[in-house]
Amino acid sequence: MSKPFIAPSILAADFANLQRDIEMINRSDAGWIHVDIMDGVFVPNISFGLPVVEAVRRHAQKPLDVHLMIVQPERYLEAFAKAGADTITVHYEACTHLHRTLAQIRELGCRAGVALNPHTPVPLLEDVLEQIDLVLLMSVNPGFGGQAFIEHTYRKIARMKHLLATHRLPALIEIDGGVGPDNAGLLLDAGADVLVAGTSVFKADDPIQAIRELGEHPKPALA
Ligand code: DX5
Ligand code: ZN
Repeated sequence: MSKPFIAPSILAADFANLQRDIEMINRSDAGWIHVDIMDGVFVPNISFGLPVVEAVRRHAQKPLDVHLMIVQPERYLEAFAKAGADTITVHYEACTHLHRTLAQIRELGCRAGVALNPHTPVPLLEDVLEQIDLVLLMSVNPGFGGQAFIEHTYRKIARMKHLLATHRLPALIEIDGGVGPDNAGLLLDAGADVLVAGTSVFKADDPIQAIRELGEHPKPALA
C-alpha cells in the first residue's frame, strides 16, 4: 500500500490568484489537487466548471482529482477527462446506472471514484467494488468548504476497510470535509489513504507547511 497523502482542495484557493495557488501546491508534498465541481442542483452551491479545470491543468504538475457534485454526471465524464482529470469521482446518490458510469470513467483512462454522502451506508457499494479505484467518504454534507467534521466518519472508514479486505480489493479511501491538524492523524490511523483539505491548507499562514504536517504519519515525536 502506498504512503497516504494530502489532496488540497482548490475550492478554498484565491480564485483571483489561482495560478499562484496551483504553483504553491506543485512545490508542496501534496499528492493530488482536489477539484470540486458543484452544479447548484445536487448541492446548493455552484463552484466552477470545465474552463477552470482546463486552466488548472495547464499549471498543475500533480494529478487532478475531480469530485463531481453534479446530477447525471455521466453527461460530462468525457469533457472532464479531456479537460485533464486523472481521477473522476461521482456521487453514489447522483447515479442511476453507477456500474456503467464507473466503467465509462475507466474507459476514458481515468481512475474511477465513488463518493458517499454522510448518510449513505458503505455496504451499498458491495456490488460495484471491482469497478472502483477510489472511495470518497464525505465527512461533511457536500456543497461548502469550512464545515465541521462529522465524527461518524471514523466508523465508515473501518467498515470500508473491512469490506475491501473481505473482497481482497485495493481501492483507495479518501476523506473529504473538515480535515485539519486535529483529526488528520486519527484519520490516517483509521486507514485513510487520501485526505482532502481546503480551509485548513489555504487559511494557514504557511500552506506548504500545513500540507506537510497534515500528511506526517506518525507525527514526529516532540523534542
Ligand atoms: C465539500 C467539498 C470539499 C471541500 C472541503 O463539498 O467536497 O472538497 O472543499 O473543504 P474543507 O477542507 O474546508 O472542509
Ligand atoms: Zn471535494
